[in-house]
Amino acid sequence: MLSIVVLISGSGSNLRALLEACDNPMFPAKVLGVGADNPASGLAHAEEFDVTTFVVENKYFANRDAWAARLAEHIDILQPDLIVLAGFMKILPASFVDRYRGKLINMHPSLLPQFPGAHAVRDALSAGVSKTGSTIHLVDEGVDTGRILVQREIEIPQGISELELHEKIKEVEREQLVRLVYEIAANEITLED
Ligand code: GRF
Repeated sequence: MLSIVVLISGSGSNLRALLEACDNPMFPAKVLGVGADNPASGLAHAEEFDVTTFVVENKYFANRDAWAARLAEHIDILQPDLIVLAGFMKILPASFVDRYRGKLINMHPSLLPQFPGAHAVRDALSAGVSKTGSTIHLVDEGVDTGRILVQREIEIPQGISELELHEKIKEVEREQLVRLVYEIAANEITLED
């Protein structure tokens, strides 16, 4: 059974999809805990599924390393096999990335390496490209630069708003995340860098 900690910053619809999948006793993974960098609304999904939560806000720490070290303390109590950044909108310092190398994956709403960063959906629309996508990749020290594990293409309909396009991408992401977690649990995909 693959054990997982999910980190979020927002509404947590990807988290919810994973919690629902893990609720099936036949699914080979389990969410042990959900952490956030703010009192995110998505934490409610974890509570609904009786999954432990923790919030570590960076404003209470002198620097990013101290903040991330506290985050790591919470994670290490749970000893997960995998940590999923599912809409976690803070950049984690190298100390954290190094500690969890090969166990840390991130979801990103574009066809990386196109449009890294916090405004991927907006940037794709501004660039006028006809397709974008969703990517899940290993986390390294860069911003959205780690090895790509899975990627799906999504057509951009004419005139679609940023919000609508992001929702369309998230529909794909939710399915993509559940499938990838299954494949990792089944050893069909390895995470060694
Ligand atoms: C997703 O699009 C993810 O790729 C990005 O943030 C969004 C999170 O959505 N990093 P949600 O909170 O899971 O609904």
